[in-house]
Amino acid sequence: MIPLDLTVVFVSTLCTVFIVWHIVQSRSLRRNLPPSLRPWPLLGNIPSLVGKEPHILMTEIGLKFGGPVTFYFGSAPVVILTTLEEATEAFVKQAGVFSDRKIPPLLEKAFSNKGSVVWESGPSWRFHRRNIHSGLRQIELSDENLVSKVILEITKLFLEIDKNLGRPTNLLESFVTLSARVVCSVTFGSRFSSFAEKDAFAEFLSSVKLISTKLTVFSAATFFPPLYNTFIYEDVREAVDKMKSFLGDLLRHHRNMFEGKIRDVMDVYVDGMRKDSNKIQEESIWRTFFDLLGAGTDTTANTLSWCVMYMCAHPQYQEMIYNEMNDKCGNDDIVSMIHQTQLPLTNATLLEVMRCAPVTPLGVPRMTSSDTIFLGYKIPKGTDVWLNEYAIHHDRKLWQQPEEFRPERFLNAQKDSILPEKKNQLVSFGIGRRICIGKKLAEIELFLIFSNLFKRYNVRFAFPGQTLDKVGIFGLTYSPKPFQVVLEKRQKDSLRL
Ligand code: HEM
Repeated sequence: MIPLDLTVVFVSTLCTVFIVWHIVQSRSLRRNLPPSLRPWPLLGNIPSLVGKEPHILMTEIGLKFGGPVTFYFGSAPVVILTTLEEATEAFVKQAGVFSDRKIPPLLEKAFSNKGSVVWESGPSWRFHRRNIHSGLRQIELSDENLVSKVILEITKLFLEIDKNLGRPTNLLESFVTLSARVVCSVTFGSRFSSFAEKDAFAEFLSSVKLISTKLTVFSAATFFPPLYNTFIYEDVREAVDKMKSFLGDLLRHHRNMFEGKIRDVMDVYVDGMRKDSNKIQEESIWRTFFDLLGAGTDTTANTLSWCVMYMCAHPQYQEMIYNEMNDKCGNDDIVSMIHQTQLPLTNATLLEVMRCAPVTPLGVPRMTSSDTIFLGYKIPKGTDVWLNEYAIHHDRKLWQQPEEFRPERFLNAQKDSILPEKKNQLVSFGIGRRICIGKKLAEIELFLIFSNLFKRYNVRFAFPGQTLDKVGIFGLTYSPKPFQVVLEKRQKDSLRL
C-alpha cells in the first residue's frame, strides 16, 4: 500500500502537470488562432459581454485587430469573421473546410440533429438540402403558384389589420402567423385543405412559439443542458412531442393522397419513399420540416418588424415609396412580382433595413471539418466559426456613413435600378454552400409584404416620444423590442377584401 503522504504528492504532482499542460496547450492554441482580447481564466472573454451587445462588441474587436478575431466562451474559441473578404475566403474559397455545423448541446438534447438540414453535416445534410431545393424550385418555377400563396396570406393579414385601424397594435404576432402560414403552405400545406383555418394550426403555432421563446442562447439549459429533462422544461418537451405527432400525421396524409405530382416539399419526400423506402428514415422527417418552419418564420417576421420600426422612424420614405408605387403600379391594387423592377426605391428601402438590422447579426454557426490554414492562422478541426453580418453591413470600406439610413446607396446614378454590386455586399442570408435555402422564397415574401403594407397603410409610432431603437433582443433571431404602431388606410386605396 502507498503511504498517504506519497499519494498526496503523487496526486498533486499529477494535477500540477495537468494544469501546466492545459495552460501550455491553450497558449499554443491561442498563439496560432486569430487575435483576441486577453481571456480570463475559465471565463474566457465572457465578462466583456456585460452591458454590450455581442455583435457590437465583436465588431469593435474586429476593428481593433483589423482581421478575423477569436472570442473565447470559457476555454472554447470561436473564430469571428468580420469582413466580406474573410467570409469569401472561408465560406466560398475554402468551402470544403468551413461548411459544417455543430448543433448547440441544448438543441441536440431537445430535438437531436438527425434529419436536421440546419445542423447536420456531410451526406445526410446534402441529401436533405437536395430534396428541399428540388421541392422549393418546383414551386418557385411555377411562380404564379408561390406568389399567389403569399398574396393570399397578405390579404388575410390586411383583414386582421383593418379590424384595429387607428388603435395601438403590435404587428409582430401577425407577421409570425403570416410567415408561418407561407412556409407551411409551401413545405407541406398543399394537401391540407384550408390548412391555415384548422385548430391544429393554431396549436402547432403556439408550440413553435413556446419552443422558440424557451430554447434560446440565454436559456438556463443552454449553460447546463441536463436541466432540459427537469420540470422547468416540461411544457417544451410536451410541445416537441405534439410537433412530432402533428408532422407525422401530415406525412401519413401526404402518402395517402400522393398521385405523382409534386406540389410541396413534403411530396418530394413521399415520392422518394415510394421509389426507395430505405433511403429516407420516416422517423426523422419531422425534424427536417421543423427546421424549415423554425428557420423560415422568425427570420421573416422579425425582418418585417424591423422594417416597420425603421419606416416609422423615417416617415419621409413611407411617402416616397408610396408615391413610387402609385406612379408605377397604376390602378393595380396589389403590388406583385411583375412590378418589382419598376420600384427601385421600394426595393432599396427594404435592402437598407436589412443592412441596418440583420436578424442573424452573427450568422448561423459553422464549424471547421478539418485542420486548416486560414489567412496565415492555424485553425484546428472542430473550431466554431461565426460570420459577423453586422460588421460587414457597417464596414466603412463598403458603405459610406454606414450608421445612416440611406436607401439611395443601393441605387444607380439615374436612380432607376438597384446596383447589383451593392446588393451583393449584403450577407443577410449567409454565403457559400450553406447559404439560406429559403432565400428566394424569403425575398419574394419580403418584397410582397413590405410593398403592399406601405401601399395600403400609413404607419406611425403609437405613442409620442417613441423613436428608432436599434438595440434589439436576442432570441431565436434578433428582434426589435416590442413596440406598438397605429395604422391608417391610405385614401386612394380601393382594394376590397
Ligand atoms: C428574412 C428571412 C431569412 C433570413 C434573413 C435567413 C437567414 C439565414 C441565414 C443567415 C442562414 C445561414 C446561412 C449560412 O450559414 O451561410 C440561413 C440558413 C437556412 N435558412 Fe434561412 N433565412 C430566412 C428565411 C428562410 C426561409 C423562408 C426558409 C425556409 C423556407 C429558410 C430556411 C433555411 C434553412 C433550412 C437554412 C439552413 C441551410 C443549411 O444549413 O444548409 N430561411 N438562413
